[in-house]
Amino acid sequence: MNAYSALALVYDMVMDHVDYEGWADYILHIVELNAEVDDHAKTRILELGCGTGLFTVELLEQTSATIVAADGSASMLEWAEKRLKEDKKRVSLAQFDFESGWDSQSGAEPFDIVLLLYDCINYIQTPEGLSALFAGVKANMKPESVFVFDQSTPANSINNAAFFEDEGEQDGISYSRKSSFDPGVRVHTTQFEIATPDGVFHENHVQKAWTREEIQGAIQTAGLTVIKAYDGFSLDEAIDESERIHWVVKVAQ
Ligand SMILES: C[S@@+](CC[C@H](N)C(=O)[O-])C[C@H]1O[C@@H](n2cnc3c(N)ncnc32)[C@H](O)[C@@H]1O
Repeated sequence: MNAYSALALVYDMVMDHVDYEGWADYILHIVELNAEVDDHAKTRILELGCGTGLFTVELLEQTSATIVAADGSASMLEWAEKRLKEDKKRVSLAQFDFESGWDSQSGAEPFDIVLLLYDCINYIQTPEGLSALFAGVKANMKPESVFVFDQSTPANSINNAAFFEDEGEQDGISYSRKSSFDPGVRVHTTQFEIATPDGVFHENHVQKAWTREEIQGAIQTAGLTVIKAYDGFSLDEAIDESERIHWVVKVAQ
């Protein structure tokens, strides 16, 4: 099956360990440190790769902004729709591919903040895909807007191999995940088996562990500029050994 079809059924269970509240607090803090974005109802946030809306809920709680939450997977968006159905005044959902679907956004009002979080960028496999993402984001920003995204690095794939294998069960649905990393091409492959009363589904997820230099180069080539690259969830500068990097990017002036 395509990535993020059956997995949508168990996604919230797989992510149970994630402190989304703390993560949103961190993201909004680094936005505030690096950009003049007022928090009011006119502030527009584009959350790319929103998944089932777990982070979107925190954006609703922690800001007054209006939000477009976008994802390429119809199955993930179905869960987001259920989760966010009481918040339609502030959130709208959009289905488009952040590598190839930007035409669908042409003519849209630009955003103050664009977000792409939790390894979404690692799903892009090619330099052309990175260029398409950054060009699409840039076309939807204003000179003062900020784009914040994270990446999982080769160091994360190498250092935390055990963390990428687990299993869980809830309400009669279970999953197991196995994972392998090819350091030669820096490709991380994760196989999910999802067992439901309607059958057993398999999904293969392929992610590229881009280096810090590769991401920085693609940002600059797209006419964007790096304001900060933070190591993990800290305010320290990212280094080659960083396992996760949070990038803060603006349009180059
Ligand atoms: C690891 S999940 C992160 C979801 C959410 N940001 C979170 O933190 O829970 C990655 C998400 O990226 C989406 N995705 C991956 N590649 C995509 C693409 N090319 N275009 C749009 N969405 C994509 C998947 O459908 C999935 O919902």
